[in-house]
Amino acid sequence: MIRVLSVFGTRPEAIKMAPVVRSLRAAPERFESLVCVTAQHRTMLDQVLEVFDLKADVDLDLMVPGQTPAGIAAGILDRLPALLRRVRPDVILVQGDTTTTFAAALAAFLERVPAGHVEAGLRTGDRWQPFPEEMNRVLTTRIAALHFPPTPAARDALVAEGVPAADVYLTGNTVIDALLQTVRPDYRLRTPALAGLDEARRLVLVTTHRRESFGAPLRSICAAIRELAGRFPDLQFVLPVHPNPEVKRPVEELLGDLPGMHLIPPVDYQEFVHLMSRAHLVLTDSGGVQEEAPSLGKPVLVLREVTERPEGVAAGTALVVGTDCARIVATASELLTSPAAYARMANAVNPYGDGRASERILAALADRLG
Ligand code: UD1
Ligand code: UDP
Repeated sequence: MIRVLSVFGTRPEAIKMAPVVRSLRAAPERFESLVCVTAQHRTMLDQVLEVFDLKADVDLDLMVPGQTPAGIAAGILDRLPALLRRVRPDVILVQGDTTTTFAAALAAFLERVPAGHVEAGLRTGDRWQPFPEEMNRVLTTRIAALHFPPTPAARDALVAEGVPAADVYLTGNTVIDALLQTVRPDYRLRTPALAGLDEARRLVLVTTHRRESFGAPLRSICAAIRELAGRFPDLQFVLPVHPNPEVKRPVEELLGDLPGMHLIPPVDYQEFVHLMSRAHLVLTDSGGVQEEAPSLGKPVLVLREVTERPEGVAAGTALVVGTDCARIVATASELLTSPAAYARMANAVNPYGDGRASERILAALADRLG
């Protein structure tokens, strides 16, 4: 029996750990599965737990308004070691590149508990972009005992950094497991504020929340959306607004009165996935959305200067456009006016996984710890 403690705290970690936790739960003869949420996010985490029918065994309930990454890390380092001493898991699983990911891995190391890192090996090579995620990933790699890269490029990055190949298991990204478990052809949107969406008008879905974009770059993104709405009055926009006040305040101030714009609170995963499948075009600085949109055949303009997810770009579905207003407007306008340019990008490709990543992670755990 292998005792696995999964630790996560934000929306994207929860979405990407949900299929793993469900698979562990479905194999009780082999695994004892325990879940600790840090609740670095509160409402957005709870939305995911509900959609995937997950319950936390331990909830550290850390989120406070105005929190900082240092504050969250301090809370985790303060509270998690005692839990690890009490539970004595054979392994903890962490996912991705958030403060929860790194601080939980460090807490496990300090208690001599091995950590498995889901979605290991993503790199931009620039410690400031995305900030602080690139450093969280690098440090989590140094700490982890087992590494689950989603793609061959991520695996190669780990091995090139000196991680022993025997500790690296290429699995695919669990986000594709989550996506395939969620997409339904007959789904109908249920957000009341979106009841007025017009089937006949093209929908542009937007998300933005990166820390390195706070301030001028985020205002530049908003200016680009205003200009696109002016140039293409047939467009409708949906922007689920990240609750971080550094995002919410400027987005509401700069886009709140824009005709055709639906600024809405974050929607749950089912609703978001189906919004993506309704969309004509996706503008985002999110990591997870960059992975999901290609498999739904939706062109993505990546609102960042660099991406650690080059596979979507190589496959032709994603373009890195940065945060410069003129560049975003020019690239989006080309896609919105040229059917040939649009068709070149609207390919359903799936460079991030085949929906069986969780299965491979469980096989690796059984192989190493069984
Ligand atoms: C965090 C992660 C980032 C990830 C993102 C996903 C770090 C440093 N950043 O950034 O890597 O891409 O989550 O969304 O780990 N808030 C709420 N309710 C919620 C969630 C957040 O009100 O459910 C507000 C709170 O005011 C909170 C603030 O957002 O203080 C910031 O949350 P935090 O987790 O610190 O940073 P994110 O920008 O969400
Ligand atoms: N997502 C969601 N509701 C929303 C916006 C996004 O469920 O209103 C999902 C999206 O499908 C993806 C994940 O949240 O799986 C991405 O989270 P986020 O952009 O917050 O973080 P990142 O991936 O950039 O770390």
